[in-house]
Formats: sequence, C-alpha cells, structure tokens
Amino acid sequence: MFQKRLLAWYNKCKRDLPWRKLATAETDCDRRAYAVWVSEIMLQQTQVASVINYYNRWMQKWPTLQDLAGASLEEVNELWAGLGYYSRGKRLQEGAHKIVSEMAGHMPRTAEDLQKLLPGVGKYTAGAIASIAFGQVTGVVDGNVTRVLCRVRAIGADPTNSSVTDQFWALSHALVDPAHPGDFNQAMMELGATVCTPRAPLCTECPVRQHCRAHHRVSGYLPL
Ligand code: ADE
Repeated sequence: MFQKRLLAWYNKCKRDLPWRKLATAETDCDRRAYAVWVSEIMLQQTQVASVINYYNRWMQKWPTLQDLAGASLEEVNELWAGLGYYSRGKRLQEGAHKIVSEMAGHMPRTAEDLQKLLPGVGKYTAGAIASIAFGQVTGVVDGNVTRVLCRVRAIGADPTNSSVTDQFWALSHALVDPAHPGDFNQAMMELGATVCTPRAPLCTECPVRQHCRAHHRVSGYLPL
C-alpha cells in the first residue's frame, strides 16, 4: 500500500532536522505549533540546508510565542539578514503579537483558522502546521508534492493551471494517511526533495515505485 511504504521509508530515511525534533518532543501544543510555524515560514522559497542555522538561532533567541511577541522589528530583521524575503520575518512577529494579545497565547488549531487568522500563512503553510503540529487529517500541495503526484499518477496537465491545482489538493486530501498526517505530508515533501527529484530521479531507491505510473511507463513493466 502506497501510504505504508512511504511512511516506512520516511521513518528510516528522514533527515534529522531541528523542527522535526521539536514537533515530536514538544508536548505543549502552542510551543509545538509555534516551532513548526517558524520552520514552515523559513522554508517558503528557501532550501532546507540554508534554513537550519537561521532556525536554530531564531528558536534560541525566541523559544516561545511570548518571546517573539516582545521582539522589535529591528531584532527580527537582524536575525533574518541573508535569508531573503524579509516580510516573512515581520509577519511572524506580527502573528505572534496577535496570538499573544488577542488569542490568549493559543495558536489557531485548524488549517482553516491558521490561514484565516495568521499573516503570511497560506493554504500550504496552514495545512503543514495543522497536520504536523496538531495531527489534523489534511493534505498539502507544494512544488515537491506536485511533482511526486504528477509522476505517481502520470498526470501531464499543466500543474500551474488553477483547476489542475484544485485537483492536486483533492488528491492529496484523499491520499493522506489518517493515522499519521504530519509524517505523511513530510514524507511526500522528503521524497520529492531527495528521491523524486526534478532531473534524474532515483527510481531504484524509491519506496513507492511499484505504485508509480510514470515509472511503469518508462520501465515497461505494465503493457501499454
Ligand atoms: N519544506 C517545507 N516544509 C518542510 C518540512 N517540514 N520538511 C522538509 N522540507 C520542507
């Protein structure tokens, strides 16, 4: 089964990333969701390798929403220097201030509310936080997930077309493992980043190649 194979691979091969440690080890919901939120904002438009040091410094300086709510924009920009797209840091600080002053320090608990209430949190980021930090059964679609889905289902349609995008979201909601939504979503991203790469994908190492229509077409395993 696709989900079981993907999760088994993820549990064995996943990269050891600081936000993954916090997402598992942190028992306080708001601290956990804050840790995931910061990581997902930093990872927008930025590669994992470039984010790690910034993330560790951020979490050391502002370990909680309350710490960040009290930070100045100058401090935020200083720490963000070199990461690019500076409005991301500003929105994190504004969001933390809003949560502390208007929401009694509690992060919104669902993808819908996260997207509605937090600046800079779009559909993808909201789904990622809700599934990883709160276990909400919701799929996510980003560039990596789109590429994996296109290949697994042999979809040739233009993935930037909005009706096609809607179908990718529907597909990701249908595929997500209800018992482990956060791990499943991260496993899809991880597969896209490390195995199902844009050029020369490593199909021999892929845990779900038996389920992949693009692979079958290329390998000739199934009759046309
Ligand atoms: N890119 C965006 N979110 C990510 C995550 N949680 N793990 C790895 N890469 C990501």
